[in-house]
Amino acid sequence: MSQYENFAYIYDDLMDDVDYEMWVNHIEKIIKKSGSSVKNILELACGTGNITIPLARKGYDIAGVDISYSMLDVALSKSEEMGIPLVLLEQDIVELDFDLYDLDCVLCACDGFNYITEIDDLKKVFAKVYELLKKEGVFIFDISSYYKIKSILGNNFMGESRENLSYMWTNYFDEETNLIDMELDFFVKVEVEDDEEDNLYERYREVHHQRAYEESELVTLLKEVGFRDVEVFGDFDLEKSKENSQRLFFMSKK
Ligand SMILES: C[S@@+](CC[C@H](N)C(=O)[O-])C[C@H]1O[C@@H](n2cnc3c(N)ncnc32)[C@H](O)[C@@H]1O
Repeated sequence: MSQYENFAYIYDDLMDDVDYEMWVNHIEKIIKKSGSSVKNILELACGTGNITIPLARKGYDIAGVDISYSMLDVALSKSEEMGIPLVLLEQDIVELDFDLYDLDCVLCACDGFNYITEIDDLKKVFAKVYELLKKEGVFIFDISSYYKIKSILGNNFMGESRENLSYMWTNYFDEETNLIDMELDFFVKVEVEDDEEDNLYERYREVHHQRAYEESELVTLLKEVGFRDVEVFGDFDLEKSKENSQRLFFMSKK
């Protein structure tokens, strides 16, 4: 089973404790700090649109790209329900086929790049982003830090049991390759009319593969493809990242 198929339809439920408003405000603070004038944004790995929709609502002209049809399907339903039209493209960002140049900003939020497990592929993405941006354009992304993947997610088991949804999440981290396999087993309550059949659940399984990147590795990669003024902030602060920052925000300019 590939990544983000059935999982796409429970993703927003599982992320219901994430403060996306704060996330979007933080992205705007980084845009401001960059000094770039941003009206249009290309968002890579946009998922169900949790960042895309609020940014569109704030008036940015935004397009989202994601490899998962199902994640985009959820994004589209939400945008239609809210009356916020979105441009969504189903593509692998490693092979990004996009030819609108001179973009103000390219964004990738919440682990999109952790899913790119080959460093050469990530370099290819960075080079394409550089090509697409206008001069002075800003590239912003955030990832789960090496510290978080190794020490928090590591080889841990997590689980939760809710009324309509339960899951078991088992991780295997390989320090040699810096790759983490995440096995997700989830049980979704089946909606039935009959009260007697009220405890039927469907079981799904997906295995997600991510890579833990060192901050210095990514800074080098950004500079190699031409980016300048590279800065890395820890968690949701505009301060330099620390050893135990779990989320790293990268800002760089063309
Ligand atoms: C953790 S979700 C984040 C979604 C969204 N950015 C958010 O903030 O909620 C990671 C997303 O990366 C997408 N993704 C993973 N690999 C990708 C690739 N090679 N090309 C495009 N999207 C990818 C997945 O389909 C998924 O939607």
